[in-house]
Amino acid sequence: MSYDQSLLLDLLHRPPPDKDRLRADHRSHLVSQRTAADYFIDGLQIHCPANIYHPQIGSSSLFLLSHLKQCHFDSEPLVLEMGVGCGAVLLGLANFLGKGVYCGADISLRAVHAFLKNADRNGIVVEGVESDLFLQLRPQLFDVIIFNPPLYDKVTDDPVEKMLLCDPGGELLSRFLCQLPTWLSPGGAAYLVVSNITYPGIFDDLPGDHEYISAELLPSGFVRALLRISY
Ligand SMILES: C[S@@+](CC[C@H](N)C(=O)[O-])C[C@H]1O[C@@H](n2cnc3c(N)ncnc32)[C@H](O)[C@@H]1O
Repeated sequence: MSYDQSLLLDLLHRPPPDKDRLRADHRSHLVSQRTAADYFIDGLQIHCPANIYHPQIGSSSLFLLSHLKQCHFDSEPLVLEMGVGCGAVLLGLANFLGKGVYCGADISLRAVHAFLKNADRNGIVVEGVESDLFLQLRPQLFDVIIFNPPLYDKVTDDPVEKMLLCDPGGELLSRFLCQLPTWLSPGGAAYLVVSNITYPGIFDDLPGDHEYISAELLPSGFVRALLRISY
């Protein structure tokens, strides 16, 4: 299925109309991050400790994973997931694709530990790195780079809300997009989740060739889309 790119761009520029519902959904989403939980995703057992992003029903993790499984990748890709969290997306993709090399990076050491434990629990070999975006990664080129970033263009004093859910002014995503070209192999592509609560300035200056390859509309009017970028 291909999406009307200008229609989607227009939707992404319109904030969700039902602000009360958006705020309520965001609050309950944040509350659900505060306690540990176990998930069973595509046959994988995923434990998510408190204050690590939860791959629950309705989350952007499951949106991302389900659409990645419909993309075409080379037979043994070198894959990086930026902001890997507890690893549900990367481990789900590794499990689905089989061969390949899978590396997960996160600014949270607790998240990296949760990811490595989940990999172990499911017998999947991966590499995990504590890193602020690409800063602590050893230089290499990836065929696929995935990022489900904190989406909400909102300032907050809550450190967990900030780390998992908020990117005021699109600062994190802008930094990611600036650094991306030097980490992608020729012919490689990045896949990132964006939304109509993402800082809108991001859409005005996207790098490389980009295409929205899937999208989803929630009852509050929240729209999220999967963006593919290549150079
Ligand atoms: C929305 S969560 C996504 C988690 C996981 N990828 C998933 O989809 O289930 C965003 C992730 O980005 C991580 N993160 C936030 N700032 C980061 C940074 N500067 N560098 C690397 N990771 C970061 C958070 O710790 C969190 O795990």
